[in-house]
Amino acid sequence: MKYGGPDGELAASLRYLNQRYTMPNNKTKALLTDIGTEELAHMEMVAAMVYQLIKDATPQQIKDAGMDTYYVDRGKDLFYVDANGNPWTAAYIAAKGDPIANLTENMDAEQKARATYNHLLDFSDDPGATDTLRYLREREVVHFQRFGEALTEIQDSFFSRKVFYKD
Ligand SMILES: [Fe+2]
Repeated sequence: MKYGGPDGELAASLRYLNQRYTMPNNKTKALLTDIGTEELAHMEMVAAMVYQLIKDATPQQIKDAGMDTYYVDRGKDLFYVDANGNPWTAAYIAAKGDPIANLTENMDAEQKARATYNHLLDFSDDPGATDTLRYLREREVVHFQRFGEALTEIQDSFFSRKVFYKD
């Protein structure tokens, strides 16, 4: 899910903080640094929210929620797994060494992150969790827009030079 899944906040933060180095200008490097750092903060928000929801759960409530097999392995510790228990992997993120490919990947990632928050909202019956999920979903939309602006700017400078990309 949003902690250690393919479209989660850990994947997002590591993707952007890693890709920042090969961006062609300081503005885009700073954008990836800012968004990558914000995603780390979102990971902390997700962790705090999930822990608040499970910390007082009884074994029966854990079983009723289908979390019994998770509980056997991890207790109430959070862990970097997806909604099916698969561990986080670097295969979730991309680093192509090309700013247009990377920014396009990032826009795709933000839309998948937004969709995952939508799916989580379908199951939320906790007002506090719903507010938090809506806030985090909105930030994914903003990140999508910022990456889109960066992509447009880089493509404009790319095409105005009338040479194929490679400095
Ligand atoms: Fe995001």
